[in-house]
Amino acid sequence: MQTKDAIDTLLVESRRFPPPPEVAKNANAQPGVYEEAQSDPVGWWASWARKLEWMKPFTQTLEWNEPFAKWFADGELNASVNALDRHVRAGKGTRVAYYYEGEPGDRWSITYQQLLDDVSRFANALRKLGVKKGDRVAIYMGMIPELPVAMLACARIGAAHSVIFGGFSPDSILDRVNDSQCVALVTADGAWRRGNKVPLKANCDSAISKGMPSLKHVIVAKRTDQHVHMEPGRDHWWHELVAAEPTTCEPERMNAEDLLYLLYTSGTTARPKGIKHTTGGYLTGVTATHKLVFDYKDDDVYWCAADIGWVTGHSYIVYGPLCNGATSVIYEGTPDYPDKDRLWSIVERYKVSILYTAPTAIRAFMKWGPEYVRKHDLRSLRILGSVGEPINPEAWIWYYEHIGGSRCPVVDTWWQTETGAIMITPLPGVTTLKPGSATKPFPAIFADVVNDAGESVALGGGGYCVIKQPWPSMLRGIWGDDDRYVQTYWSKFQHLYLAGDGVKRDEEGDFWFMGRIDDVMNVSGHRISTTEVESALVDHPSVAEAAVCGKLDEITGQAIVAFVSLKGGDPGTNDLAEELRDHVATKLGRFTRPKYLTFTPELPKTRSGKIMRRLLRDIAEGRMLGDTTTLADSGVVEELRSRAITEAAKED
Ligand code: WT7
Repeated sequence: MQTKDAIDTLLVESRRFPPPPEVAKNANAQPGVYEEAQSDPVGWWASWARKLEWMKPFTQTLEWNEPFAKWFADGELNASVNALDRHVRAGKGTRVAYYYEGEPGDRWSITYQQLLDDVSRFANALRKLGVKKGDRVAIYMGMIPELPVAMLACARIGAAHSVIFGGFSPDSILDRVNDSQCVALVTADGAWRRGNKVPLKANCDSAISKGMPSLKHVIVAKRTDQHVHMEPGRDHWWHELVAAEPTTCEPERMNAEDLLYLLYTSGTTARPKGIKHTTGGYLTGVTATHKLVFDYKDDDVYWCAADIGWVTGHSYIVYGPLCNGATSVIYEGTPDYPDKDRLWSIVERYKVSILYTAPTAIRAFMKWGPEYVRKHDLRSLRILGSVGEPINPEAWIWYYEHIGGSRCPVVDTWWQTETGAIMITPLPGVTTLKPGSATKPFPAIFADVVNDAGESVALGGGGYCVIKQPWPSMLRGIWGDDDRYVQTYWSKFQHLYLAGDGVKRDEEGDFWFMGRIDDVMNVSGHRISTTEVESALVDHPSVAEAAVCGKLDEITGQAIVAFVSLKGGDPGTNDLAEELRDHVATKLGRFTRPKYLTFTPELPKTRSGKIMRRLLRDIAEGRMLGDTTTLADSGVVEELRSRAITEAAKED
């Protein structure tokens, strides 16, 4: 049966948008780029790498010892020099690096010279505290300028940063700091969020009280002016540390393959993985993609409205744009504070020409209605980007028409924390766009669609998304766990990187992403493992068992559904349901709070005791149930179906 909605979707999907002539004519990427890259992919990447500034030029390009790659391995460079010093030396010190807008409405701009001064000072301060090349430093902050400053200062002295998104809980901080034995933790007193103060420092204190043997120093930037405890000898105010430091700081010479950062991401187990990114290849990947995918030019004002705590911010707020000498916007808060036109007022104020945001945000804007958009002049925009999850064709069209004024190409960019940089994407001057499709692999990226046997599927078919050749910004492994790296990405198929996404490829070779194929949910573009949420639930004293799955959601893409059975056959109450949701938020982070929670005397299991997740997903999404004959007790399913899943009374 085809519903009206399904027919509308088909009509929207079949629309085509060739590149506007004025974009095509001057675009950084011209049609020949694919062939050029294809004819010598490693050489093509090397030509991008040579645009960086090397302290010792590389003579080697790719060393592939599957599945471990080294790129430009005999070269030496420093990421902060590439992001800052290089531009200042070229006479661009007065150029704005970031326009900063705080949630309460405070605004200022930071030039490349000022950013270099701040980074040098903080780098000196870190060195004085004893932080040295090869160490790891955790950073747990909101979106304030000190966050990129701290990252670049680490890069300057050769310490790897491990940024922990400010929405994470104390337990999440604890696990991450201890997993990679960070010697320092950089945070702030608090962060602004919808007019409230998020207690960042207090969260750190509560994490530290559970034991962080490697941690020697905590550095606290002032943002919200709330009272915080400062432990003598361990805790330092940022502004006091940097006050006497000079604005010059000798950068470390780093090998291209030295660790630039760790970023933890959720996998299919309860333990997050510390994804490793190194220096030379990573900077090459983010610089090339930022320049070609967003068609970035010197007179653009570029805004990636993500949080630096996720990879999108690392690659496309910090390293990519700064390496290209870009002028960017950083905004601290949420899009609906103080009102639902906040983003559009920012676009208008700074004359933003390139905007990069997520489908979940676009769907929220759709729901709020175009009147908030119409209040502002958005004619400065020329390129729009989307990232984080598949964008549904309706949201794509809305973005194109209402934000882009039917004038701006929309680039739907598919990539992952692991890939470091954009992998499958349109190029604005080249690609004919299809709403809902990420279109084609970026030049010199070899992606394919394969079946269960790892064989390439003919055009028109679907399967697993894989990458066939190494690329410069690829992860170099998982911190402390090479086996898990091999198991997770390189064991299902021989010689193919398994991304974990299902994808269809149409007759013209364009990719349409379908979502994850593993037990990973995508809620508002955040990657959350079902197992992580299940273990957080089971951690509560009254819970006997829990199973978690995702359910389609109009705004957030997926919403978290939890099925919980309580100890002693307790039927549960609404209050307890709230308590359990809060428990998950406290254990993991506010963005992991289940939207739906249902108590059930038992979970549906096979006779061998495996929870039948497929069935739970069917129940959660209200679908007809598939085969239930393998169930140990089919009564459980009837019982569950008869209970409507209850929605959270309170949303984050
Ligand atoms: C997963 C990676 C990449 C930065 C943000 C998320 C999904 C991401 C798209 C897109 C369809 C997408 C995939 C991927 N995803 N972008 N344009 N179309 N799906 O990074 O947390 O590492 O998550 O996000 O499922 O595997 P991440």
